Amino acid sequence: MGLTRSPSCTHTTSISSAAASPSSNPSRRRRRRCYDNLFTADPALRNLFRGDMREQGAKLMQMIGAAVSLLDQPELLSSALRKLGARHAGYGVAEPHYASVGGALLRTLQAGLGESFTVEVRNAWVALYDFVSRSMIDAARAEATSAASALRYV
Ligand code: HEM
Repeated sequence: MGLTRSPSCTHTTSISSAAASPSSNPSRRRRRRCYDNLFTADPALRNLFRGDMREQGAKLMQMIGAAVSLLDQPELLSSALRKLGARHAGYGVAEPHYASVGGALLRTLQAGLGESFTVEVRNAWVALYDFVSRSMIDAARAEATSAASALRYV
């Protein structure tokens, strides 16, 4: 999991800027703040990211949007999140990383939205992140268990 260039933190920056203003690009200052939030809390995370971070951020926002629009189709939603969770295990993402990203996400939203980040808005983000990340973690665990049992027969 090497890193060849300095990462920014689009996983959380893009959520914050989209929530604040859907058409605006993340400012350099906000990206830096998020970078500080996430990588200060968990410096090991910087080694995981290597792709185009803007593109990753856009994909994350699409995924969150898709999750919300699929809330009334739980089977489709669950299947999409399980696949996403399995892919994340392949990127080297481990369970504790979800808490780090969740914490950085909330701090970045708070900083970006200010007074608009009410208790209700915060609770809604916590509930959504909790649901999405738990689905992804469960899938990664199931994948690891089935890989371990397959290895017993090799
Ligand atoms: C709510 C939780 C999360 C969501 C919805 C999410 C969503 C996404 C999406 C949509 C992608 C694009 C690639 C794909 O679809 O497979 C992606 C990539 C990625 N995510 Fe996440 N993610 C989440 C949590 C995390 C966490 C906790 C980490 C750990 C730091 C992480 C690290 C990564 C990495 C390393 C990539 C690949 C980036 C690259 O190759 O540069 N993600 N994520």
